[in-house]
Amino acid sequence: MQRKVIIDCDPGQDDALMLFLAFASPEELNILGVCAVAGNVPLEKTQRNMCILSDIVGNEKVPMFAGRDKPLTNVGLTAEHVHGRDGIDGIDIFSPRTKLEPKDAVDFIVDTLLSAADDEITIVATGPLTNIASAILREPTILPKIHEIVVMGGAMKEGGNITPSAEFNIFVDPHAAKIVFECGRPIVAFGLDVTHQVFTSPNVLERIAKLDNRVAKASHGMLAFFGRYDAQKYRAQGAPLHDPCTIAYLLQPELFELKSCNVRVETDSELTMGHTAVDFWGVTGLRANVEWAHSVHRDGFFDLLIERLSRY
Ligand code: BDR
Ligand code: CA
Repeated sequence: MQRKVIIDCDPGQDDALMLFLAFASPEELNILGVCAVAGNVPLEKTQRNMCILSDIVGNEKVPMFAGRDKPLTNVGLTAEHVHGRDGIDGIDIFSPRTKLEPKDAVDFIVDTLLSAADDEITIVATGPLTNIASAILREPTILPKIHEIVVMGGAMKEGGNITPSAEFNIFVDPHAAKIVFECGRPIVAFGLDVTHQVFTSPNVLERIAKLDNRVAKASHGMLAFFGRYDAQKYRAQGAPLHDPCTIAYLLQPELFELKSCNVRVETDSELTMGHTAVDFWGVTGLRANVEWAHSVHRDGFFDLLIERLSRY
């Protein structure tokens, strides 16, 4: 089955790998548009990076849109300490041939959903959820059109990566995350519990290095850069491939184990702002609103990634 998807992201090296996986998979995914949001780096850079990545995959038909440059309520926060000054450090930055559409990303999301059938569109979100929440706030009648929202964000067992209790995407815009997680449509969430099971390794980088194409070379360069910070932080052999989990799930859901859980987002506490309270054991009795990913078949994940990179 080919799904119609809108991708919303903040590239970011792991967002880049997510896009590479998606653009290599036209049999499964009909990408209607890609949107950028402020996150890992400011919007001017995430939108430029998105267009650079579009050039690298040779995209000529999927339109690109720029969205919100700051969170709904909180002040913004970026992560150059993880992703580098440009966000996709590890490759040379160039002026992309791909141009942004004049339309704003939130308008694109609203208009696309309004003209879709019920339950028709899957949204993949791998940055702060500002664009998606803004679309829902602007036009709540889009909700029935959403088949599911596949999110990289949150953490339960792994605590947090930007504060002791919050994951970056949720921390940057917890108010947006709350709106999305409580919107009533099916949500599948890939938090740190699962993305910390897919760290790259020297072996993975060697396998990518053997692929002789432009996208694989860019992947190798970015992952080599991205791995440095995380290897030190987590005492791991490389970097966690957070964002590609979303697309890997759409391509091969059997790679992941999910559990239906109630998930609420902390928006009040200064100490735990952006924490995702995942009721994994059903102690609250509250309705499950999220399919929470908690396990991934690591080898299968990297086999899929490398096979798709070899297609370019
Ligand atoms: C998430 O935050 C960003 O740094 C990554 O791109 C990923 O989406 C991980 O916490
Ligand atoms: Ca991201």
